[in-house]
Amino acid sequence: MAKLWGGRFTGENRSAHFTASIGTDQRLYREDIKGSIAHAEMLAHQGIISAEEGRHIVDGLRIIEAKIASGAVELTEEHEDIHMNIEALLIEEIGTAGEKLHTGRSRNDQVATDMHLYMKTAIGTVLKRLRDLQDAVVELAERHSMVMMPGYTHLQRAQPVLFSHHLLAYFFMLKRDEERLIAARERTDQCPLGAGALAGSSLPLDRVMVAEDLGFTSLYANSMDAVSDRDYLIEFASASALIMMHLSRLAEELILWSSHEFGFVELDDAYATGSSIMPQKKNPDTMELVRGKTGRVYGNLTTLLTMMKSLPLAYHSDMQEDKEAVFDTLDTVTACLAITAEVINTLHVHPKRMASGLNDDFSLATDVADYLVAQGVPFRRAHRIVGEVVRYCLAGGLSLSELTLDTWQAFSPAFSEDIVNGVDAASSIAGRKTPGGAGGESVKAQIEEARRHLASPY
Ligand code: ARG
Repeated sequence: MAKLWGGRFTGENRSAHFTASIGTDQRLYREDIKGSIAHAEMLAHQGIISAEEGRHIVDGLRIIEAKIASGAVELTEEHEDIHMNIEALLIEEIGTAGEKLHTGRSRNDQVATDMHLYMKTAIGTVLKRLRDLQDAVVELAERHSMVMMPGYTHLQRAQPVLFSHHLLAYFFMLKRDEERLIAARERTDQCPLGAGALAGSSLPLDRVMVAEDLGFTSLYANSMDAVSDRDYLIEFASASALIMMHLSRLAEELILWSSHEFGFVELDDAYATGSSIMPQKKNPDTMELVRGKTGRVYGNLTTLLTMMKSLPLAYHSDMQEDKEAVFDTLDTVTACLAITAEVINTLHVHPKRMASGLNDDFSLATDVADYLVAQGVPFRRAHRIVGEVVRYCLAGGLSLSELTLDTWQAFSPAFSEDIVNGVDAASSIAGRKTPGGAGGESVKAQIEEARRHLASPY
């Protein structure tokens, strides 16, 4: 089969399998055809090709699109990538007019255009999945808005919080993820077509017409930048890496919480799996895989950054490697967002287990220190006093709620009657009235903010 670029070559090419990208970039066939149709219509409009040739090309491209969709044609490594496969099919389909399609164009601006088109839509899909997960998180928080649980630092019980407060932290993480993706989409919304190989064209191309046709908001202002920019892909990969980092933290918590030791939650049977040997096992595989897949998304980001590092302007074949990394990122992040939303939507919550021990685990010690502060004791001194109380309790196997007034007062005269049984988890949480704090009022405000966000366009 003759190569489209065969003119200056003699003999047989023996590297087609190595240089081909068709296995990966065939995914772009719709965008490639869309871009070619816009290009052909512009060429005809500008009188660079005849109106009839323009029509032939457009009709031919539509036929080829249908054939690729139905699997009626074979895409081959012989034609390297999706761009040359489609062009070769077009020439086969309509003859001479097909040979005019590539006028004023290079695969360099073509592949860039395809990827911009593809990613604009794809980011929209990820945003939708992100919203679904945000929605699931807020729903779950709302369903269990007053359930108490231990809050941890260093994975040690720190202070009691509301389960809803804990969950909503993820909502706000996901909201930032959304902002990053929207920003990445904005920078994807630029048309490279007309940049040619790197220098633009001496033909009277109408770049504005093509960009408008393809639904782009703006044009690349510099043709060399247009063909060699992969920032928008790296931004997507980077925003995706952060999404996965967030998902991996949530996944890890769900895995921990569904262990026998915690027993806070249970994944629905639909999203867990059994063991091939231990009949009693119910494994949180879905969440383990989300946690595990985070690595490949980080890896893809590194691939892209490394691929671009030190590349002189303008296009290089190195950049052909971008697609595998970007598509894998896209598929992984989309699937992980979807499964996590389903897990959250069906999660079984055990409020009693979450709240158990909250009054006896010393996680109210900070509240006791705050009590002393309210009596005028300097905080650092209050901290030491309560530390001593805790040490005393630990030595005697006691909890704070078991101490008598006399005992309290032995540590500080600032304690009075109301300290006996005066601190409990519920009132500790209710007392956290600072904006953004773990108290019920704050959680209510957060849920309202989340609901407003979920009603906003994206
Ligand atoms: N398959 C190539 C890619 O994905 C298309 C652009 C090729 N351009 C070139 N001059 N080899 O990057």
